[in-house]
Amino acid sequence: MSKISDDKIKNICCLGAGYVGGPTMVVLADRCPKINVFVTDINEKKIAEWNSKDYNNLPVYEPDLDRLVKKNRGKNLFFTTNIKKAVENADIVFISVNTPTKTKGLGAGYASDLKWVESSARLVGEFAQGHTIIVEKSTVPVRTAELIKKIIKNFTRTNTKVNIKPKTFSVLSSPEFLAEGTAIKDLEKPDRVLIGGEDKDSLHILSLIYQNWIPKEKIFLTNLWSSELSKLTSNAFLAQRLSSINAISALCEKSGADVNEVSKAIGADTRIGSKFLNAGPGFGGSCFQKDLLNLVYLCRFYNIDEAANYWEKVIELNEWQKDRISKLIINVFFGTITSKKIVLLGFSFKPNTNDVRESPAISIALELIENGANLVIHDPKVTENQITENIGPNKRNSLNCESTDGSWSFTRNIEEAFTNADAGVIITEWEDYYKLDWLKISNFMRKPSWIFDSRGTISENDLNGTEINLWKVGKGFSLKK
Ligand code: NAD
Ligand code: UGA
Repeated sequence: MSKISDDKIKNICCLGAGYVGGPTMVVLADRCPKINVFVTDINEKKIAEWNSKDYNNLPVYEPDLDRLVKKNRGKNLFFTTNIKKAVENADIVFISVNTPTKTKGLGAGYASDLKWVESSARLVGEFAQGHTIIVEKSTVPVRTAELIKKIIKNFTRTNTKVNIKPKTFSVLSSPEFLAEGTAIKDLEKPDRVLIGGEDKDSLHILSLIYQNWIPKEKIFLTNLWSSELSKLTSNAFLAQRLSSINAISALCEKSGADVNEVSKAIGADTRIGSKFLNAGPGFGGSCFQKDLLNLVYLCRFYNIDEAANYWEKVIELNEWQKDRISKLIINVFFGTITSKKIVLLGFSFKPNTNDVRESPAISIALELIENGANLVIHDPKVTENQITENIGPNKRNSLNCESTDGSWSFTRNIEEAFTNADAGVIITEWEDYYKLDWLKISNFMRKPSWIFDSRGTISENDLNGTEINLWKVGKGFSLKK
C-alpha cells in the first residue's frame, strides 16, 4: 500500500462547469472541506451565473444544488474563468468538457468530437506545474487517454537543471454516472465509482479523495480502457432497456396487454430488476444517443459490424417511438390537426432538470407544428428561449388568423393553456402534472377533448366525470361515449 495520503492534495481544478462539472465539483467541495476546488469554464456567462447572488439563476437546475452552492461557494468552492491560474495551482485537473457527436469530417454523425478534450489536454500541458494528475470525467471513446497522454508528452519535463522545474503528469479515467434530476443524490451516494489507470500512486490518491464520502468497496479500480469502455457500455445497456420496453409498449397497445403490468411482472425477476422499465416517448438527454452512436462507430472501426448493427437498432427503435406518437396524434384527428390547439405538458427530457438536449418534446413539437397545429408549451423550469433555440421562433404573433401554418407559444399557466384546447400531450412526467384537476381542465377544453399520455402518468379513474378521451402509452385508447 502506498504511503501517499490525500493531504498532499490542496487544490483541484475542473475544466467545464456544465451539468457534470458543476454538480460534481459542488459535492466534492462539500465533502472535502480541506481541498480548494476551482471550477472553470471558457463560457464567461456560465461562470457569471454560477457566481450569481440569485440562487435561482444557476446555469444548472438540480434539486438541492442551490443549497450546496450557497453553503460552500467562496469557502473552498470557486467558479472562475481564470483557467491558467486554476491549472497552475492544481494537483488534480478533472476534464468535464463536452464530447458531442461529430457533425463533419471522418466519423461525422457517429464518432465523438474530441476537440474540447484535446484543447483541455493542451491547456493542462501548458499551464500545469510540478506533478499533475489528469482525470477524464467526460464520456469518451475507449483509448482516449492515449490521445491525452500523447498531447501532454510534449510538455513533460523530467529534467531538473537549475531554473527548469520538472513537469510531470499521470492520466486517470473516472467517468461520471450521475443522472440529471437526481445528480446530487447520485453524487453523494453513487452505486459505484470507477477509477481506471496505471499509476498506482495516482489511483490511490483519487480513491482516498472519494473515500471522504464513498465507501471503499464501492470504488472500483480498473485499467484505463475498461474504465472508459464501462461508461459507454453502461449507457448503451440502459438505453437498450428503454428501447426494449418501448417496443413492447407498442405490442401492448395492439394486444390488450398493459405495459405497466408487464413491466411490474418482468421487473420482479431479480435477474431483470425493476428499474428503468417505464415506457415513454423515447429516451432523450445529451448522452444516450451520442454514446450509442459512438459505440456503433467504435465497433465499425474495429470491423465488428454485427455488434455495430445491433447497437444501432436501439437508436432506430427510439426514433420510431417518438415518430409513432406524433403520427398517432395526427391520425386521431383524421390526419388534420391544422389550427388545432394542442397543449404540450413538459419540454425537458425528464423531470427535475431544465435540460432539453435531445428531448423527445423537440421532434414531437416539430412534427405537430409541421402539420399545422397551434401548440401551447408548458414546462415548470425550461425557458421560452431554450424552446426557441430548439424549434425556432414562436410564430404565433406574426400569423394572421386565416393562416394554416403551425405555431407555438409558451406559458407557465396550465389553465390558460387548456382554454379552448383540443388536446393535451404529456411529454415529461413533472410531479405537478400528477396533481392536475382533470375535471376542471375538461371544462376549459373544446369537445371532443383528448389527452395523449406518453408517460403513463394518468389512470382512467383520474378522468372519471370528464369528457376527455385518453390515449396512454403501452395501454392504448380509452374513449368516452
Ligand atoms: P455541458 O455542455 O453542460 O458542459 C461542458 C462545459 O465544458 C461547457 O460549459 C463548455 O463551455 C466547457 N468547456 C469546453 N471546453 C473547455 C475548456 N477547454 N476549458 C474549460 N471549459 C471548457 O456538458 P455536460 O452535460 O456537463 O457533459 C460533459 C461530459 O460529461 C460529456 O462528455 C458527457 O457525455 C458526460 N456526462 C454527462 C452527463 C449528464 O448528465 N449531462 C452525465 C455523465 C457524463
Ligand atoms: C443517463 C444515465 O442514467 C446516467 O447514468 C448517465 O451518467 C447519463 O445518462 C449520462 O451519461 O449522461 P440521464 O440521461 O441524465 O442519465 O437521465 P436518465 O434518467 O437515464 O433518463 C434518460 C432518458 O430515458 C430520459 O428521457 C427519461 O425520460 C428516459 N427514461 C428513463 C424512460 O423513458 N423510462 C425510464 O424508465 C427511465
